[in-house]
This record gives sequence, structure tokens and C-alpha cells, in this order.
Amino acid sequence: MDCEIPTSLSDNRLGDFSNDRPGGAAFRVDGVDFTYDGALPMFRSLTLSARPGEFVALLGPSGCGKTTLLNLLSGFLPPDSGRITIDGETVTPEMPALGHVFQSPQLFPWLDVLDNVRFGLRMAGRLPDAEQRDKAMAVLSLVGLEAAAGKFPHQLSGGMQQRVALARALVLEPRLLLMDEPFAALDAITRATLNEELLRLCGRLGQTVLFITHDVEEAVFLADRVVLLGIAPAGIHSELAIDLPRPRHLRETRRLERFTTLTDTLLERISAIVAAA
Ligand SMILES: Nc1ncnc2c1ncn2[C@@H]1O[C@H](COP(=O)(O)OP(=O)(O)OP(=O)(O)O)[C@@H](O)[C@H]1O
Ligand SMILES: [Mg+2]
Repeated sequence: MDCEIPTSLSDNRLGDFSNDRPGGAAFRVDGVDFTYDGALPMFRSLTLSARPGEFVALLGPSGCGKTTLLNLLSGFLPPDSGRITIDGETVTPEMPALGHVFQSPQLFPWLDVLDNVRFGLRMAGRLPDAEQRDKAMAVLSLVGLEAAAGKFPHQLSGGMQQRVALARALVLEPRLLLMDEPFAALDAITRATLNEELLRLCGRLGQTVLFITHDVEEAVFLADRVVLLGIAPAGIHSELAIDLPRPRHLRETRRLERFTTLTDTLLERISAIVAAA
């Protein structure tokens, strides 16, 4: 195999891209009400915010509205009332500050890896072709996929496809990265590798991240803060600050007593939410 997933990324792979360090945006969901047409209310007076560069993980039972909240935050869904802002500005889907990574990579099958990553830059039309290419290559190098630039999505493993999806989001230098169970479909080893690499990238690039997951250990390993959503329309059930030291490495961090305490606390809270439903 000529493009195996590396076990780690070296800092020099950040190359030119780290010079464009985008930094993080603050977001604020302020008193938001939201109901899908013909359905019961989903959110009532929902309030949630994050400071620049913060990594927030969102946990909650299936159907409680995590993806809906992400779609509100990305401006795809308008709130019925209340306000959602990114760095103080009301959010719109066109906001350049936003990047998305979904559960399935959603790559264009007819484009090679480089052109998939370049796609957003082409649409924005702000950079000459050669610069688009250089930037896409820099970010592919960042996620360890330089060697796969000429391959097509069907020639890649699931983990590699998800890296391309991450590269496609990062190339636009988002200041807020919205991730909806991005690694849920991957095997445990690939997932662990990508978790560590995501933390390394975020540490260097400094984006704010809202990361949805069903996996309590993944949430605790990645996040500065875990937000638990209750059953709709309960809104936010509780929050938990993750006071584990950084940098984090999966094997070492998982062995910490505090890691177990935090995951147990969250598991108990989720059980309580489900039991009360
Ligand atoms: N476009 C839509 N129109 C109407 N109802 C919807 C729509 N999208 C989602 N829903 C409903 O809203 C609720 C919340 O859905 P959402 O996808 O936000 O949940 P979730 O917490 O992300 O669940 P999961 O963990 O399974 O991904 C569900 O009951 C779902 O059926
Ligand atoms: Mg969802």
C-alpha cells in the first residue's frame, strides 16, 4: 500500500499552512427556540456558548437534537426565535468562519483527492489556480495524505476518506469547526489515531470546535468541556469541564484516574436522562 495511514503526524507537515493560523471564533446560541414543522418543540430558550479555541463535545441520546443544533449553528436552519452569533455576527451558511465535517465523508466521487480538497477554494474563486493547488497540498500534507492526492475516493479506506473530509474543511481556514460524529463509522484503531491527530491539529491551528459524538471516552479525551443535551425539549441537561492535562495521548490519558472519574460521571448522567425519558 502506498498510502497507509501514518501513526502520527510530525509538526513539519504543518508546512506553510501553519503560517495561516486561523485562530478560533467565539459562538453564542442565545435563547433559541426551534420546532420542525408539524413536530413537537425541539429547543426552548436554548443557550450555549464557547470561547475562541475551545473544544466542546456534545453528547446526548439519539434524537435529542444534536445534529439539529449543529445545523442551527451553521445557519442551515433558522431559529424560530433567539439569536445565534459567531464572533458577534448573526450566523449565515455562507460565513467563511465555518467548517463542517459530517459522519460520512461526502466526497465527490468524480474528483480526485486534491480536487475534492480544492473544491471550496475554487468555488470561492479568490485564489489563482496555482495557489489553490499549493494550499490544498499543504493541508493534505497536514492530514498525512500528500501521497494520495491523485487518487479517487473509491481508492481510499474509510479513515483516509474521513481525513480528506477534514482537509476539505481545514483548507478554508475555518475558525469554527462543526463536526457531526465524524469518526463514528471507523474502526477503533483508526478512530484513536484520528482523535490524537485532530487534537494536534487543533492545538496548532487554534480553531474552536463543536464535536458531536455518542462515545463518552472520545468526548472526554478530546474536549475542554462536555455539554450534555437532554431529551427534547429539555435543552441542555448539564456541562462538565474536562480538567485533564494537555497534550493528551490516548494510552496515557486513558490510564488517568481522573479520566475514569469523568467518563463515569457522564455515563451516570446519560443513564439518568434515558431513565427519565
Ligand atoms: N428535517 C427534519 N424535519 C422534521 N424532523 C426532523 C428533521 N430532522 C430531524 N428531525 C427530528 O428531530 C429530532 C432530532 O433529530 P437530530 O437529527 O437532531 O437528533 P440527533 O441528536 O442528532 O440524533 P442522533 O444521535 O441519532 O444523530 C428527531 O426526532 C428527528 O426525527
Ligand atoms: Mg445526529
